Amino acid sequence: MSPRSYNFSAGPATLPLPVLEQAQQELLEYPGAGASIMEISHRSKIFSAVLEEAKSNIKALLGVSDDFEVLFTPGGATMQFTMLAMNFLNGGAADYLHVGSWAAKAIKDAKRFGTVNIAWDGKGDNFTRMPGDSELDLDSNAAYVHITSNETIQGIQFAKEPDVSNIPIICDASSDFLCRPIAIEKYGLLYAGAQKNVGPSGTAVVVLRRDMLERVPEDLPPLLSYKVMADNNSLYNTPASFTIYIIALVTRWLRNDIGGLEAMERINRSKAQLLYDVIDNSDGFYRGHARPESRSIMNVTFRVGNEEQEQAFLKEATAAGLDGLKGHRSVGGCRASIYNAMPTAGVEALRDFMLAFQQKNG
Ligand SMILES: Cc1ncc(COP(=O)(O)O)c(C=O)c1O
Repeated sequence: MSPRSYNFSAGPATLPLPVLEQAQQELLEYPGAGASIMEISHRSKIFSAVLEEAKSNIKALLGVSDDFEVLFTPGGATMQFTMLAMNFLNGGAADYLHVGSWAAKAIKDAKRFGTVNIAWDGKGDNFTRMPGDSELDLDSNAAYVHITSNETIQGIQFAKEPDVSNIPIICDASSDFLCRPIAIEKYGLLYAGAQKNVGPSGTAVVVLRRDMLERVPEDLPPLLSYKVMADNNSLYNTPASFTIYIIALVTRWLRNDIGGLEAMERINRSKAQLLYDVIDNSDGFYRGHARPESRSIMNVTFRVGNEEQEQAFLKEATAAGLDGLKGHRSVGGCRASIYNAMPTAGVEALRDFMLAFQQKNG
């Protein structure tokens, strides 16, 4: 069997090896089910236990009380751009921080459902940084403030939640969900496409403060109503049951093997530092996109030497088993996505490759 390469792609991303091994072991027969988890009823006792474990692991990791619901919704994070606006904008006004490419998509989709105020725009800085609190032009009557905690394409991340006073934060945390502890009490809703930090693609995990449900209009299509999804425990229709099973395993791994979000953050910070140190000590051969204070610990974006060297870098990296390093077409260059499940050994291998490449070509 060929060894697995290190997958630095932005998503679908690498999953923890012990999770893949356990899923492989249980693929033909989930213990006690006589079939795989994919082949049994989503209303069975066995699947209910899996769903409850996924929810309770996420709540325990985030340290949230029963004031919050955890939902699994179809359509990935992109569907959330629309769903959250249908539920909470609904003809009113909300503040959006235009911090990068994914925020732009959330803004575009929300505009169909009400007034979008751009409370900060990072375009002038080419999306190289997140705003400081004093730069935000917030409307105290806004239904919510939408932020993107980590911009996957640009590789910039909020160091912490912006101070938005009493306005609930709605956050697209697709590319940094469960990578570190957060101040959950500031959030009305947090959503994440599963395919980066918690499982396979096609589903979003939604963490929702229960009182937000009072704002949901009654006449929404059922799968697009947080209230219907919450009232039915994400089982209004047949959910992505295999995905929820993998999410249960990944979050169990985060709790038991890693030891929770503080431990995960320490590991993530030290992995990211390995790459930022190479960039900072390269005399300009590697050039980071993000300003240092906004650097992401999940997506490290950088340019290499000249155009020709950059192409050679990507080609040689792939040949060396370091895959998925090409940056997004809108930004160019390279991007190393180093989510929770990317082992330190993978980042060390990339660091060593970068050092050797510079020595040969710099
Ligand atoms: C920050 C962010 N938001 C939203 C999305 C869209 O996610 P999905 O493909 O699950 O709709 C992505 C996907 O890469 C992302 O990185």
